[in-house]
Amino acid sequence: MSIRDRIVRRWATLRLSPTARRMRREGLTYLRPVKLMRIEAALRRLKKRRVAGDYLEFGVALGGTAALIAPAARRADATFVGLDVFSTIPPPTSEYDDAKSRERYAVIAAGAATGIGGETYYGYRDDLLDHVEHVLADVGAPVDGTNVRLEKGLFEDSWPTLHVDRVAFAHIDCDWHDPVRYCLDAVAPKLSDGGLIVIDDYHDYAGCRIAVDAFLAENPGFRMVPGANPLIERR
Ligand SMILES: C[S@@+](CC[C@H](N)C(=O)[O-])C[C@H]1O[C@@H](n2cnc3c(N)ncnc32)[C@H](O)[C@@H]1O
Repeated sequence: MSIRDRIVRRWATLRLSPTARRMRREGLTYLRPVKLMRIEAALRRLKKRRVAGDYLEFGVALGGTAALIAPAARRADATFVGLDVFSTIPPPTSEYDDAKSRERYAVIAAGAATGIGGETYYGYRDDLLDHVEHVLADVGAPVDGTNVRLEKGLFEDSWPTLHVDRVAFAHIDCDWHDPVRYCLDAVAPKLSDGGLIVIDDYHDYAGCRIAVDAFLAENPGFRMVPGANPLIERR
């Protein structure tokens, strides 16, 4: 890591909430401090502007970012829904997914991935859903099946059953082209004025970037606010 990157990391870490710092320290999130900082800033903005709607996360994994989003939903008197297969990530299947995505998936599928800090890779755990329930209870947002919910399954299967009317916040953190595009198409029409979608992997995987760019080109009513994890908002 360059000296500049180290300084940015330190600067961002100092701006994180104690919970966000703990999620990093305990290896419960893949996100760099600057991305966590931007999520927390977005959540504060929604609360301040009293933006109505549900708070969603597509791609929960170990629950590190859900542990920031679910309590923010509670503070805003809103519902949190976290969607994930809670097992091994589905493969990248689009022609737009790059070699990096395919190589990463090949390692995971071969059983050779290692988790954060050398732990077992989360996708190999059979207690992942229970683990995330514990994490959310620990941060004051226990899963109750109503205001705080976890939906296990493919987004494509879960989302049509949820009947979400309005969305204040969505964190789309699912790596590959097809799920990113699916989530954008699902959520954007329901995004409240002032609502925010955070895209995690725009700079990490080409499939994600292509999905977001195509969505924006086809939907001129939305724009991107650039950054480590860009925001999508209504114009
Ligand atoms: C990078 S992880 C999420 C990281 C997490 N937000 C954090 O705090 O580090 C991506 C997650 O998306 C899930 N996922 C990807 N595609 C999916 C799909 N089509 N349906 C359900 N879950 C999916 C994977 O199983 C994985 O748990």
